[in-house]
Amino acid sequence: MAQVLITGGAGFIGSHTCLVLLQAGHRLVVLDSFVTSNPASLRRVLELAGGVASERLTVIEGDLRQPSSLDRAFSAMAGRCDAVIHFAGLKAVAQSVHQPLLYWDVNVGGSTQLLSAMARNGCHTLVFSSSATVYGFPETIPIQETAPVLPINPYGHTKAAVERMLADLATSETHWRIARLRYFNPVGAHPSGQIGENPLGPPDNLFPYVSQVAVGRIARLQIYGDDWPTADGTGIRDYIHVMDLAEGHLAALEVLWNEQPQLLTLNLGSGIGHSVLEVVRAFEAASGRTVPYGVAPRRAGDAARSVADPSEAERRLGWRTRRDLETMCLDGWAWQSSHPDGFSSQASNP
Ligand code: WQD
Repeated sequence: MAQVLITGGAGFIGSHTCLVLLQAGHRLVVLDSFVTSNPASLRRVLELAGGVASERLTVIEGDLRQPSSLDRAFSAMAGRCDAVIHFAGLKAVAQSVHQPLLYWDVNVGGSTQLLSAMARNGCHTLVFSSSATVYGFPETIPIQETAPVLPINPYGHTKAAVERMLADLATSETHWRIARLRYFNPVGAHPSGQIGENPLGPPDNLFPYVSQVAVGRIARLQIYGDDWPTADGTGIRDYIHVMDLAEGHLAALEVLWNEQPQLLTLNLGSGIGHSVLEVVRAFEAASGRTVPYGVAPRRAGDAARSVADPSEAERRLGWRTRRDLETMCLDGWAWQSSHPDGFSSQASNP
């Protein structure tokens, strides 16, 4: 049993990863500010994990930009931190354009504080939540990890900056074990429907937006452009089931623990592209609901296509996605239909 600190563990990807690690028998300390997440997610994780999992989960509310919050988290591990998975951060592209300094403070400043606290506490194993957004407008599809890092928005710049900081650290102190995981488009939910994506306010991303239209929270979807150079004219992305993504984090930890110190950089995607219209149709089939939509102008910063080449993650981790778009929609609907208002729904108050 390892002891793992998970920053942002109450969030969408964090909560699903906590469940996978608890089911693998590990002990977790979660540090979360709950600014963009809800602690109810972790109560649900414990219910899903069952048994005596509650004895292996400690939740600490705090902002990792405050050294005192990090000190409390490391103290809760009584001097033994076998790894950190760093999810905590802000991730809304449009918000980052309007509030760049907030993104640099939270995403980069917070990461700097975390790394200093890790060094002070003798922990040198880190899985970092990065993003395909660091590629900006990729020249070649599918995208390999060797593609140029050319972010096009402040959010992407902060992810690239933390990646750079980690590379510099791994060069200067060769005992660090680091995995930089570049997520493509995480979607769906645990099949139980008891945890899932819980965006605060109107969703920025396609999947939660479609889901909220299907459940009746939002009247209609606006499709950002139907004149892209794609088969049906709508944008193509690489959607990855959040449970596949969570399992990929456990696989990365096990490689870092079992191999020599190294800096891993891996795309976590399916390698399969789906258009906006394909997602709409798949979600209608899964939910039995109609998703009304209109066509709006293209969104600034969008690309026609973004699809991963996932072969390096398969080679290095022995991991690949196992769940298809239909499953993403069925599981996403299981969550949304039982929690129309997310964790603020009555149903979510245990
Ligand atoms: C997907 C497709 C849109 C909303 C972003 C971040 C990325 C990652 C995932 C954090 C595109 C279209 C969307 C809508 C639409 N997040 N769309 N109507 O932009 O690929 O990636 O989220 O790491 O970093 O950049 O995801 O879901 O916003 O868009 O037509 O209301 O859906 O044009 O083609 P994106 P998305």
